[in-house]
Amino acid sequence: MRSVGTVSVLRREIAVLRRAGKRIAFVPTMGNLHAGHLKLVQVAREHADAVVASIYVNPLQFGPKEDFAAYPRTPGEDKQALESEKTDLLFMPTDAEMYPRGLEVMTKVEVPALGDILCGKFRPGHFRGVTTVVNRLFNLVQPDVAVFGKKDYQQLLLIKLMVADLGMPIEVVGVDTVREADGLAMSSRNKYLSAVERRTAAKLYAGLCGLRDRLKKTGKMITDIETDTLRELETAGFRPDYLSIRRAVDLGEPGPQDKALVILAAAWLGRTRLIDNVEVTV
Ligand code: PAJ
Repeated sequence: MRSVGTVSVLRREIAVLRRAGKRIAFVPTMGNLHAGHLKLVQVAREHADAVVASIYVNPLQFGPKEDFAAYPRTPGEDKQALESEKTDLLFMPTDAEMYPRGLEVMTKVEVPALGDILCGKFRPGHFRGVTTVVNRLFNLVQPDVAVFGKKDYQQLLLIKLMVADLGMPIEVVGVDTVREADGLAMSSRNKYLSAVERRTAAKLYAGLCGLRDRLKKTGKMITDIETDTLRELETAGFRPDYLSIRRAVDLGEPGPQDKALVILAAAWLGRTRLIDNVEVTV
C-alpha cells in the first residue's frame, strides 16, 4: 500500500491508476479503524479494481465544544489494518493540505434539506463540515464508487444528495452497520465509555429493535409510539438528543402510505454521544 500525504503526490498516484484503466473505489474515514471501517474497504474492493482510503480528522465537522482534540488517532495501527485489507492507496493529509487557505475562508458545501434536522439540529454546522470535506476529497480522488456506512445514516443520505445535486459521476454505496456481539454499533467513540457505560451502551440498539418490532406488529404509526422507548433509554441512564421514526428515503416525517422507514437515535452516556439506527418495512 502506498501512503501519501500531499495533494500533488495523491494526484500523481491516482493518474497512474487511471492510466492502467483501473476502476477506483474510495473509503473516507477519520481513522482509529475498527471492523466497521474495514468492512467498507472489503465492499469497496468488490466494486472496483483499486481501493483508495483516506484518514483525516476533519476539524470543520466538530463543534467548538466537541471532541476534536480527544478524538482517537492511531495512524500506525490503521496503516497495518488497511495494509492487511490490501488497500492500494492511503491518503493521510495534514490540515494545510486539506484547507490551504484556512478553515474560515474555505468554500463550503451545504445540503439544506438534510443538514439541519436530527443530528444536524444538535450539532450545528456538523454536516456542512462533512459535505465540505467529502466534496474536496471526491475532487482529489475522483473515484468511480464511494463507500459509506449506514451507521451514519443521515450522513449517507446527505452524501447521496450532494453527489446528485452537484452532478458528480460517483456511485455511492451504503454498507450495513457492523456491531459488537451485544449489538452495540462499532464506533471510534466507544473508546470513551467506562466499563459500566459500555454495558449500558448496548441498550440503545436493543431499544431501537424493540421499537422496530412494535412498529412491525402494529403495521402502522401510533401517535407517540417513540415515547416508551425514550423513557426506557432514560431509565437505563441515557440522555437522548432525539429518537425519531422517519422515511428511509429522505428522512421526512412518514405518512400512513410510507412503508420503508428508519428509526434513528442519538443519546449521551456520560460524556459520550452514541448514534444508531434500524431500518424497518411496515
Ligand atoms: P468515520 O466516523 O471514521 O467513519 C468512516 C466511515 O465508516 C463512514 O462511512 C461511517 O459510516 C463508517 N462506519 C463507522 N462505523 C461503522 C460501523 N459500525 N459499521 C459500518 N460502517 C461504519 O464518518 C466519518 O468518519 C466522517 O464524517 C467522514 C465521512 C470521513 C468525513 O470526515
